Amino acid sequence: MSKEKVLECINLKKQIKDKTIVQNISFSIETGDVVGLIGPNGAGKTTTIKLILGLIKPTEGKVIINGYDLEKDFKKAINKVGAIVETPTPYMYLSGYDNLKIAGNNYKNIGKNRIDEVVKIVGLENRIKDRVSTYSLGMRQRLGIAEAIINEPNLLILDEPTNGLDVEGIIQIRKLIQELSKKGIAILISSHNLSEIDKLCNKIIAIKNGKIIANDTIEKFKAISKEPVYILKLDKIDNIQNIDLGYKFEIIDKDTIKLYVSNEELSKVMQKLIENNYSIYSATEYNYTSEEAFIEKVGENKID
Ligand SMILES: Nc1ncnc2c1ncn2[C@@H]1O[C@H](COP(=O)(O)OP(=O)(O)OP(=O)(O)O)[C@@H](O)[C@H]1O
Ligand SMILES: [Mg+2]
Repeated sequence: MSKEKVLECINLKKQIKDKTIVQNISFSIETGDVVGLIGPNGAGKTTTIKLILGLIKPTEGKVIINGYDLEKDFKKAINKVGAIVETPTPYMYLSGYDNLKIAGNNYKNIGKNRIDEVVKIVGLENRIKDRVSTYSLGMRQRLGIAEAIINEPNLLILDEPTNGLDVEGIIQIRKLIQELSKKGIAILISSHNLSEIDKLCNKIIAIKNGKIIANDTIEKFKAISKEPVYILKLDKIDNIQNIDLGYKFEIIDKDTIKLYVSNEELSKVMQKLIENNYSIYSATEYNYTSEEAFIEKVGENKID
């Protein structure tokens, strides 16, 4: 898969009356990327997505999709983009199949074969002839994704695709997104379900109060502490708080401590523990979850 810039946002700003909703939004997405757009409620995720899709007009800045300027060349720019924004609104009294036929009519050359293909991709074969009103939330979400990919997009934008789903539904949608990514579709997925991001995305864009505050690979995003943290498993922790290890540590449970020390200095601390008759069973570098990194960088998930 060659790496190509699929989406580029350049200095997007949206102002409504005297309220600046988003500003200085610049980032790009390449082939193969699954990018997580994360941020608390009201941060500006949906607004950013609407700007990318041309559903609202930016006050400043521009969007380039597959090399086309969204404003100047809207049709060409949007042609290979599929999206679900907020909640999909299918025709409830029609079957899933008929909904897909209607979605296909927006494009040239979408025939029965392509409809059957997307039904299979999203795994709705057994229910596609049923009325949408009889679908579960997860099935409706799948139908939304089927509609979004009907024209074989190379950029798929999903606004909170797992919102309201149960654990099973979340796992299934996650698998589906992973499969679509393997087919070479670049994906932008907004979420405040941070553990989702860990498992799905290779890049993270964190947004707060309408501004991007982090734009990193998932690894870099999670590397929040300059000082590595180690988890040490010991035979016991009796009286350990009375020993001066030379570095900050916390007791995690009856045989585990969390140690804030550089890897060069780790052996010194281990030496000290051994001198004080503690046995060390293991020392592993601690990896922050994206949730912890998020809280560290973005703050608690609350509305300002
Ligand atoms: N048409 C509008 N007029 C005025 N304010 C708006 C408008 N649309 C959005 N906003 C405000 O802009 C901010 C960002 O909204 P947006 O929907 O982009 O947030 P979000 O990150 O998608 O939040 P959520 O996680 O709740 O979906 C909010 O404070 C919202 O109230
Ligand atoms: Mg939103």
